[in-house]
Amino acid sequence: MMPIRLLVLGSGGMANTHAMNFATLPDVQLVAAVDVDIAKVRAFAARHDIPNTFTSLDEAIVWGEFDAVTNVTPDRIHHPTTLPLLAAGKHVMCEKPLAETYAKADEMATAAEASGLVNMVNLTYRNVAQVQKARQMVIDGEIGRVRHIEASYLQSWLVSKAWGDWTSESQWLWRLSTKHGSNGVLGDVGIHILDFAGFGAATEIDHVFARLKTFDKAPGNRIGEYDLDANDSFTMTAEFTNGAMGVIHASRWATGHLNELRLRVYGDKGALEVIHRPDASKLRACLKEDVETAVWREMEVDPVETNYQKFIAAIREGHTEEPSFRHAANLQKILDLALITERERRELAV
Ligand SMILES: NC(=O)c1ccc[n+]([C@@H]2O[C@H](COP(=O)([O-])OP(=O)(O)OC[C@H]3O[C@@H](n4cnc5c(N)ncnc54)[C@H](O)[C@@H]3O)[C@@H](O)[C@H]2O)c1
Repeated sequence: MMPIRLLVLGSGGMANTHAMNFATLPDVQLVAAVDVDIAKVRAFAARHDIPNTFTSLDEAIVWGEFDAVTNVTPDRIHHPTTLPLLAAGKHVMCEKPLAETYAKADEMATAAEASGLVNMVNLTYRNVAQVQKARQMVIDGEIGRVRHIEASYLQSWLVSKAWGDWTSESQWLWRLSTKHGSNGVLGDVGIHILDFAGFGAATEIDHVFARLKTFDKAPGNRIGEYDLDANDSFTMTAEFTNGAMGVIHASRWATGHLNELRLRVYGDKGALEVIHRPDASKLRACLKEDVETAVWREMEVDPVETNYQKFIAAIREGHTEEPSFRHAANLQKILDLALITERERRELAV
């Protein structure tokens, strides 16, 4: 079996995670890395034993000796790089959010569908076995009709230096600036928690009303070329296609929580809770007669395939795989609407 030749586009923080994950797959060869920063891409290639480096995607496309790409560039670079890759006939796994707006994300999904190439978005928390099991339990009717959903994504990098110093490192500063293509915490991790909630509760959002807030963080709310205007906390009330009500929120000010996703799904026969943290994930359930005494039990889960594994398998088998560009574009539509609801202070239908 010929290995799948993979190019890594972008060589920042998350690209290391991609390179390490793809390197563990036996039928994948990391053949090239691209970054506009030459020192960064050379160091990255040396670290991951990647033979070819480029400082522009155009040069890499002219070279052409790769089958697939994992796009780990900043959010606003996803659209202008993914479209030429699809046009060149390359399968693409793209980081989230697919783009900064629904219009761009939709264009990417439409191009990917027309190309027949494998297109996936790295909604990482699909890799959490506990949320996959929760979804299956909801589908199997174990908690009955879902009535209420609570989901949150908590980070604290604005108050802690555990991940570095946001006041001086570009990887954090671009995430705080709309001019640099960020939709703040809503675009950055809001997309993860909307996916986590909808996937885990086996439903979709159909009405949304959100409030977003940007706190003053520096003199004049500016550091160097970065205007710190992107939101850093959001709260959303949502209605779901299964009729349930819910609340979804996220913050970068959640002191004491480095990276924590929580989902609670309440049905008329039982309830589920998924908590995912860097150190551990848990699924707890309150089912059947335990509903009377409110006793919760931890559930066993089987290991699941990662997005990285699914992407390679989909290329091998010649089919598309979820989470697709189209799915991510649909989530992007909700993010766009959330921004409008903040301005207009009224609920909108998806
Ligand atoms: N799925 C997840 O859990 C997860 C986690 C972290 C980051 N991400 C996503 O991954 C992406 C990258 O995030 P990061 O933290 O690695 O950012 P980063 O700033 O550390 O790295 C981005 C890299 O892309 C390079 N770059 C910029 N423009 C480029 C271009 N035109 N061509 C090639 N390279 C270019 C930059 O020089 C930089 O090295 C973002 O979209 C982010 O949202 C996803």
